[in-house]
Parts: sequence; C-alpha cells; structure tokens
Amino acid sequence: MTRLDQVEQTPGRLAGPPLTPRTAVIWSVLRAELERRAGTALTVLDVGGGTGGFAVPLAQAGHRVTVVDASPDALAALTRRAAEAGVAERVRAVQGDGDALAGLVEPGSADLVLCHAVLEVVDDPAAVVAALVAALRPGGAASVLVAGRSAAVLGRAMNGHLDVAAVLAADPVGAAGARDTLRRRYDADGAAALLGAAGLVVEEIHGVRVLADLLPAAVADGQPAALVELERALAAQAPWRDLAAQLHLFARRP
Ligand SMILES: C[S@@+](CC[C@H](N)C(=O)[O-])C[C@H]1O[C@@H](n2cnc3c(N)ncnc32)[C@H](O)[C@@H]1O
Repeated sequence: MTRLDQVEQTPGRLAGPPLTPRTAVIWSVLRAELERRAGTALTVLDVGGGTGGFAVPLAQAGHRVTVVDASPDALAALTRRAAEAGVAERVRAVQGDGDALAGLVEPGSADLVLCHAVLEVVDDPAAVVAALVAALRPGGAASVLVAGRSAAVLGRAMNGHLDVAAVLAADPVGAAGARDTLRRRYDADGAAALLGAAGLVVEEIHGVRVLADLLPAAVADGQPAALVELERALAAQAPWRDLAAQLHLFARRP
C-alpha cells in the first residue's frame, strides 16, 4: 500500500473535491497536510489560483484562502464560485503579479502556499519562489505544480511534431521557441533545486497526469475511476513520475 492509498482511506475535513486525473494526486498530498493540522483553520495563499479550483474546496473545509492572480476575469469567476459555495467570507481575491508577490502578502503569515501551473509562465521563477518562502511561517508547507519537460517532448513527438520535440528536448529551459505557450518546463531535479535554493525542504515529488494526456479520449472518458487509480499508483514510481505532464512538489519551510 502506498502513502497515497493510506491517505485516501483516512476520513478528513476536506469533503469531496472531485478527484480527476488532474487533481487526485495533489489532493491526496494536501489532504495529508490538512489531516496533520486537523482542527486548525489554516491561512492559505494560492498564487495564480485562477478561478478557485483549489481555493474554494479549501475554504469549504474551513480554511482562509487568499488568491493572488494576474487575471481580473479569473478573480471574478473565483468570487462568484466562492459565493455560490457559501464561503465568500473565507476567500480573498487579490489582483497582482506573481513576480511582485513580495509586496502583496504579509511575510511569515501562511500555513500553506499553493503555486500551481504558474512558475512556467512568470518572468522570474526564483523570485516568485523566494516570495512564497517569505510568505510562509516556519514549518509551513508549499504545494508547487510545474509543467514536466519529458511529457512535452513525448507529446509533441507522438502528435507528429518531431521538429518541435527536438527543439524542446535541446532547449536549456524546455521551451519550444517564441510560439510556445510556456516559458519553461522542469524535470524533477531542476524543480527540486529551484525550491531548495530558496530554502525549502522538498518532502515529496509526484507525477501528475502520467497517462491521462496520452490515452485516447474514449479510454480516459470511459474509465475515469480506473484512470484516477492508475494515476495514483504510478505517481511516485520510476520511471512514470518523470514522464508526467506535471510534477507536484510538496516542500516545507524549516
Ligand atoms: C494555468 S492557470 C492555473 C490556475 C490554477 N493555479 C490551477 O492550477 O488550476 C495559471 C494562472 O496563473 C495566472 N497567472 C499567469 N501569470 C501570472 C503572474 N505573472 N502572476 C500571477 N498570476 C499569474 C493566470 O491568470 C491563471 O489564473
């Protein structure tokens, strides 16, 4: 039995965020942290939290969540979603740039910081990670999700774009030139080094969407529960973890 299996079988305060191949592994890791702090209303910061896919369930579980995001549209959707879920008073929307995070959040105030699918688009990921660390209280945890480099190479190649796959594979930061939607991608060592250089201790690394993006839609849509189970089973295993579309790092400020 893996640690993720054990966590899923533990009843927690986090009732019912939908488990999809995009979210199941991340929620498993977060649920373990919430269980560790059970009974405490945590102060959560979600950088680039968008429309609140994580923020709203965390607020529903009783935690106070501040979402910093560059997009006014995303924040408007977040605010509506929080109101519909009855947790508007526990969700604060702040428009701002992750690159200027240091000026937006109180130092040492957060128990948990989320930074999901953001470091691959900001100007200066090291500055954003440094600001995340500064926002955390000692002992606080960071949940960081980044785009995986190997999966991008595989995906381009399997779609027949061998030239783009070759550029991506050779590029020092794992981007495919000016038309790429992302500015960089990571492997596990590179992402762990980024967090470690800012003073975080990386506790766990999982692959997210090892298979989901590679399967025919009929398989993924036809067997969703089996796919979630398989994703969870493969998430921490070599070589699957390192082929995932995204890498999830769970780290702590000492
Ligand atoms: C791919 S979405 C991820 C949303 C959410 N974190 C998730 O995982 O579902 C990226 C989010 O980051 C926001 N974003 C992009 N660049 C940003 C920046 N420089 N500072 C703050 N937010 C940014 C976007 O507006 C968007 O909401």
